[in-house]
Amino acid sequence: MRLPRQNYHDIERIIEFDFVRATEAAALNSLQWMGRGEKELADAAACDAIRGMFDLMNICGEVVIGEGIKDDAPGIFKGEHLGTWMPGSPPFHIALDPIDGTTNISKGMPNSIACIAAASPEAGVKEALRDIPSFYMMKLSYGAAVTRAMQISGIETIKLESPVEEILLGVAKALNKRVQDLVVMMLDRPRHSEMVAEVRRVGASLRMIGDGDIAAAIGPAIAGSGVDIYLGIGGAPEAVLSAAAIKCLGGDQQCRMWPRDEKERKELIDLGHEEDLKRVFYADDLAHGKNIIFCATGISDSALLKGIKTEGPNTVTDSILMRAKSKTVRFIRASHDLQNKTIRLRSDNREHTI
Ligand code: FBP
Repeated sequence: MRLPRQNYHDIERIIEFDFVRATEAAALNSLQWMGRGEKELADAAACDAIRGMFDLMNICGEVVIGEGIKDDAPGIFKGEHLGTWMPGSPPFHIALDPIDGTTNISKGMPNSIACIAAASPEAGVKEALRDIPSFYMMKLSYGAAVTRAMQISGIETIKLESPVEEILLGVAKALNKRVQDLVVMMLDRPRHSEMVAEVRRVGASLRMIGDGDIAAAIGPAIAGSGVDIYLGIGGAPEAVLSAAAIKCLGGDQQCRMWPRDEKERKELIDLGHEEDLKRVFYADDLAHGKNIIFCATGISDSALLKGIKTEGPNTVTDSILMRAKSKTVRFIRASHDLQNKTIRLRSDNREHTI
């Protein structure tokens, strides 16, 4: 047990590995549902394992961004408390997606991860992980090389509001690539048909994904991911999670709320978000301050992480763990002996082999 009221200088450094244990447990426990056509059972398994791991962590965790409310999925939603809440334990605000890409898991497709972003309170930061009120956001993300090129030139050449052609040419120039060598990733959705036509007309290479735009949006900020730009409309909670990661990696993400219809636009205006509807949010606006942690574990292969594999008798997970303050990025490859390993599940508060 941690000492009551102990005042750590850098509490995220001490606790961060427990967060990655939680995403590993979520990934491992959901694997039984790979390809079985049961996305909600996969999600429930991941949630059970995340809650179970948090039950072992002496923190006062409050979920500030949970899963987007979709298809009545089981899930961990805003307001839930995670951790033991032992008196004196450090507080954390938590944003999480126990599985981003539940449909992918149900079909045995690539591009699913388990991920968590967390922030401990910081002087001067009111809302580290910003809860965006719209269902979707329009998103554009790129890696550190693009951000650096814009800093050096002193001109923000790549803007979410610009025509697709300008964005693509800007990123190609920043990366010193021909536009036909540029790789754009996008969710495969009818709402993207004009953007798809534009990418094809300009001649960049397009990679469409079925689901899972957290990993896809982080992809351009990961060296060797093979993705240069993420573009398109996806979930707003997912945008905050990818922003937290991109902030640690040094790239950037530009986003704007994208109401699905007039009804949602009007609701947002009635709730006082008229100005925010016009605003472009950068990674630092969605994940603000220095006390941010991000971690994710691959379930199936994505631009961010390899999925779970078996190697001989063991099961191997690939995870990423990073912090905004130190900018340390850890890739953690863990080999699990599932004959011996147990994970704790909240549903019966017991350790389980999987
Ligand atoms: P789930 O895993 O919660 O189903 O979300 C998958 C996802 O593809 C997200 O990555 C993405 O942001 C969102 O759904 C897109 O929403 P939609 O499927 O409505 O286009």
